[in-house]
Amino acid sequence: MNANLNAMDAVVPTLRSQIMADANELSRQLQAHQQRTFPPTSQKSIRLFTPAEAADFIGIHEGYLRQIVAEGHGPEPLPNGRRLYSVADIESLRLVLDEGGKGTPKYVRHRRAGEKLQIVSVMNFKGGSGKTTTSAHLAQYLALRGYRALAIDLDPQASLSALFGHQPELDVGDGETLYGAIRYDESRRHISEIVRETYTPGLHCVPGNLELMEFEHTTPKALAERTDNSMFFSRIGESLADIESAYDVVIIDCPPQLGFLTLSALCAATAVLITVHPQMLDVMSMSQFLTMTGDLLTVVENAGGSTEYDWMRYLVTRYEPNDGPQSQMAGFMRSIFGQRVLEHSMLKSTAISDAGLTKQTLYEVEKSAFTRGTYDRALDSLTQVNGEIEGLIRSTWGRK
Ligand SMILES: Nc1ncnc2c1ncn2[C@@H]1O[C@H](COP(=O)(O)OP(=O)(O)OP(=O)(O)O)[C@@H](O)[C@H]1O
Ligand SMILES: [Mg+2]
Repeated sequence: MNANLNAMDAVVPTLRSQIMADANELSRQLQAHQQRTFPPTSQKSIRLFTPAEAADFIGIHEGYLRQIVAEGHGPEPLPNGRRLYSVADIESLRLVLDEGGKGTPKYVRHRRAGEKLQIVSVMNFKGGSGKTTTSAHLAQYLALRGYRALAIDLDPQASLSALFGHQPELDVGDGETLYGAIRYDESRRHISEIVRETYTPGLHCVPGNLELMEFEHTTPKALAERTDNSMFFSRIGESLADIESAYDVVIIDCPPQLGFLTLSALCAATAVLITVHPQMLDVMSMSQFLTMTGDLLTVVENAGGSTEYDWMRYLVTRYEPNDGPQSQMAGFMRSIFGQRVLEHSMLKSTAISDAGLTKQTLYEVEKSAFTRGTYDRALDSLTQVNGEIEGLIRSTWGRK
């Protein structure tokens, strides 16, 4: 044995047992950490919103909001006379504004006849490009704006599920990820049995965990044996078709690899968002990603799969505009892809990364935990990005 190895290395004889021992200990410690930060009794929740924020979500001027509230709608004032709005308050004000649903609803933004379900796949095989952060905030934003949203965690690492309060090892059992609805054997379940409510009214989710990896392993076998009529790339779309009337937008957070899961999400997608951090190595990696994806989609098309879509956009993430090389890289991307790079970028902010440490989003953390400017800058950037994406979704429905 190498004399440089320490005594701890020698305790477990094989790489397998060492890795398993480390996995067990890390998982135990992470669960203990989770118990400390979020004891089972604590409930995750969306924070309360100021009148200006509530008016923005509803899509009216703050003065008009105050007027309706003065007429007896909305939340009771706090002892200091201020009013703060919960998601439920915002939703009930929408109903008031729509006069309880008489006529065409304007503020309740659900899809109307002829407007098809939007399935937005968020992807890039570069790890840490901001897929999960983008997916989580976009899904919550859409729910806060009055759409019925479904967030699907397609990553076996299950970061999105963790952010939404589901511990992948403890809270998500067999067949409770999307794999349950797309698997090839008789254990396949209807997706409606798998979808969960979240603490955000209007937002449901399908959590992930390691079992999603099974799809990568069983698909080659199914392809070789041709055991099933439906090809792997149509399975996500088929399972979503079973619940399509319940939602307006589905957001799929893809894993950082180009396997069968990601390809299936691409084929199910009506829209694709590629997140990219504007640095040379990340952009080079994205170049490979695009080449490989193009090749694989050719194979899918040759096998009869459809690769039609409504829009595809690049989103610049964790952007630091004062960093010269980053702004050059962002400019480089814009010069190549033009309008396919979203006009707004997601700024890098400690408000996002700090919130992530306690598995929270910007819509959950209390503003008071940050210096005011820090939080507000991050939220402004997020709102601009999400607003631009909402605009794309609405334009596919033919709405303004
Ligand atoms: N705008 C931002 N400002 C600061 N930190 C950010 C921002 N966006 C993401 N991060 C942080 O960067 C890290 C990676 O982000 P995220 O998990 O969203 O990437 P990902 O592409 O989903 O990663 P993976 O490929 O591992 O799934 C996280 O710690 C997250 O908190
Ligand atoms: Mg992720």
